[in-house]
Amino acid sequence: MASRKEALTRRTLLTSAAAAAASTLLPRRSAHATSKAKLKIGLLLPFSGTYAALGASISDGMKLAARDHQDRLGGREIEWVVNDAESDPTKTKAKTRQLVSVDKVDILTGPVHSGVCAEMLAVVRETHTLTIVTNAGMQEATGSLCAPHVFRTSFSNWQTSYPCGRVVLRDGHRRVALMYWDYIFGIESMRAFKESFQDGGGTIVNEIPIPFPSEDFAPFLSRLDVSRPEANRPDAVFVFFAGRGAAKFIEAYAAAGLREKMPLYGSGFLTEGVRHVGGSAAEGIKTTLHYADALDNHVNQKFRAAFKKAYSREADVYAVQGYDTVNLLAQALDKVQGDTGAQGELIAALENARLHSPRGPFRFSAAHNPIQNVYLRQIVGGRELFLGVAQQDAEDPATGCKMIAAR
Ligand code: PHB
Repeated sequence: MASRKEALTRRTLLTSAAAAAASTLLPRRSAHATSKAKLKIGLLLPFSGTYAALGASISDGMKLAARDHQDRLGGREIEWVVNDAESDPTKTKAKTRQLVSVDKVDILTGPVHSGVCAEMLAVVRETHTLTIVTNAGMQEATGSLCAPHVFRTSFSNWQTSYPCGRVVLRDGHRRVALMYWDYIFGIESMRAFKESFQDGGGTIVNEIPIPFPSEDFAPFLSRLDVSRPEANRPDAVFVFFAGRGAAKFIEAYAAAGLREKMPLYGSGFLTEGVRHVGGSAAEGIKTTLHYADALDNHVNQKFRAAFKKAYSREADVYAVQGYDTVNLLAQALDKVQGDTGAQGELIAALENARLHSPRGPFRFSAAHNPIQNVYLRQIVGGRELFLGVAQQDAEDPATGCKMIAAR
């Protein structure tokens, strides 16, 4: 197997070669760049439903970064084209076609929900639209469905859940119950957690899937069956919920008196933006995520202060993902002077982009997913504490990605 350094060098060479080949086939500078038409960026994000706050954060993070670039990328003024994704996959193909074929966006960004992402990818794989996934973690986006024109600036499900299995074991828990919204993200997140937890000798004693987007958790919590003798019941619970549903879950868990009996763990979405809800209900929850509020780097401090000033609320991981998306696009579009028609060169520029992100160092893997640190966090005294790095330079396995095989 090639070493990481060899693979990277090879990748850089091949990427440059591919870009050079592509650029000879494409017009050097399309009309867009010379006339400096507006740069249309599509946002397919939820602005209603349980994930509404997540869509707003991503969009606000993007606009904050755009402001640092005087609302221009590659010399072109940005025009945002927004469509409410609603977290409803049955509406996604029509909404994506509207953005791509009717609104004619140059670059498509979004979505939050993995089921929406699958439908969106089905369309952009036909239209070859340059697409940046700004949240949805479905493995396939940078696995078997990876494509040269598709990048992800957020995370894969594996990245946010696999490291938590080891954390739970280290904390001395051997018997765990799983609770999750029963769709792509929840299913893949549980699979990744199990991989590390069971490998380390842990046992899953109960799996409780809950239909998305149900926020009525009490009937499902009763299935944790705390009346069983202690030796037979779970000694911790690992979950996936996010947005408004996560806040409701945390409150329901505490109200059922479970917080003291079975510590709660999850991918960090569980407590992003919701930790001030319900008094002490979130107290003690430990999570793993590719961001932590308290990360001690200059970019993070500057970002958090600017976000708070602009929007009068604290930034969260979703805002970071939006912010980084625009900063990465700024780097790449500068290289092609705003010419989105020069897609081969633009892709190569994104592949080679490096970012000092509020989350720490960021670069794309060969499958176009971030290579990034995953952090351990805990809610203590109503605040998120940074407990350390759970996994350094976590890189998704990218199973099934043919772009990697070809390199
Ligand atoms: C997803 O569906 O991939 C998803 C949704 C919300 C999150 C994280 C992942 O916070």
